[in-house]
Amino acid sequence: MQIIKNVKDMSQACRQARRTLGLVPTMGALHQGHRSLVRQARAENATVAATIFVNPAQFGANEDLAKYPRDLEGDLDLLNHEGVDLVFNPGPEAIYPPGFDTWVDVGAIGDKLEGAHRPGHFRGVATVVAKLFNIVQPDRAYFGQKDGQQTLVVRQLVRDLNLELDVVIVPTVREPDGLALSSRNAYLTPEQRRAAPVIYQSLCRAKDRWHQGDRDAETLRQTAREFLGMEPMIERIDYISLADANTLAELDQVEGPAMLLVAVKLGTPRLIDNIILE
Ligand code: PAJ
Repeated sequence: MQIIKNVKDMSQACRQARRTLGLVPTMGALHQGHRSLVRQARAENATVAATIFVNPAQFGANEDLAKYPRDLEGDLDLLNHEGVDLVFNPGPEAIYPPGFDTWVDVGAIGDKLEGAHRPGHFRGVATVVAKLFNIVQPDRAYFGQKDGQQTLVVRQLVRDLNLELDVVIVPTVREPDGLALSSRNAYLTPEQRRAAPVIYQSLCRAKDRWHQGDRDAETLRQTAREFLGMEPMIERIDYISLADANTLAELDQVEGPAMLLVAVKLGTPRLIDNIILE
């Protein structure tokens, strides 16, 4: 496994790599969710590249950039063990050198939900993802359903900028009690951790009603909201959205594929999750 810190060396290594080339972008502090992306990439490509870059551009001024968990040694062990060929681990100055001033703005799909609560977040994500795509020139890139809105932002970017790659979405990996794996789960106190499965359970409650034939979107949102409301450890619900799975347009009636997304504050961390209804 080759570990590369600068852009030129990474581009060169990728140009020389055997095709197809699969890319797994990450911010490190890797867990089983990331591992599942890497495994799928490994199964589908001749060469696998992973990136570890805690992207300052996607963190707001009062967010957890400085405190974001970092474990480079553990990450490299995991990637090596999974048979990754190339690891790109640049410093912030390699990606955003002095004078850097071009941004990728994906428009409406990045302005709602997470984008409304974290202004500029998806501009930061889209910009770094576009740069990584240009540096690596992958045939396929792997993203987790866990970050549901991010998958749509990436699809929009690929479509609008005519990028020649396939975006592959990998199912959310969960703890046995349903909590979606996330680097931010490490911030939960034991008490908050015991309460956290309520997030996924609230989504499943709504999905049960949908399975029973209920198609009224507000009823389904309300089902999830009420279930979350019963857990006193949930400090705040930022949003519960039941939206078109491709456009994120909020729904009145569920007819086609839909995404049910939720963001809550549970103690220090803000946690997000989603499920697809189709
Ligand atoms: P990060 O949070 O490190 O996540 C990297 C990838 O792992 C994302 O595609 C994310 O959706 C996926 N992932 C995280 N938890 C998962 C889980 N429980 N199951 C399945 N996949 C999971 O997302 C980012 O980094 C950044 O925004 C990035 C795309 C790297 C751009 O900076």
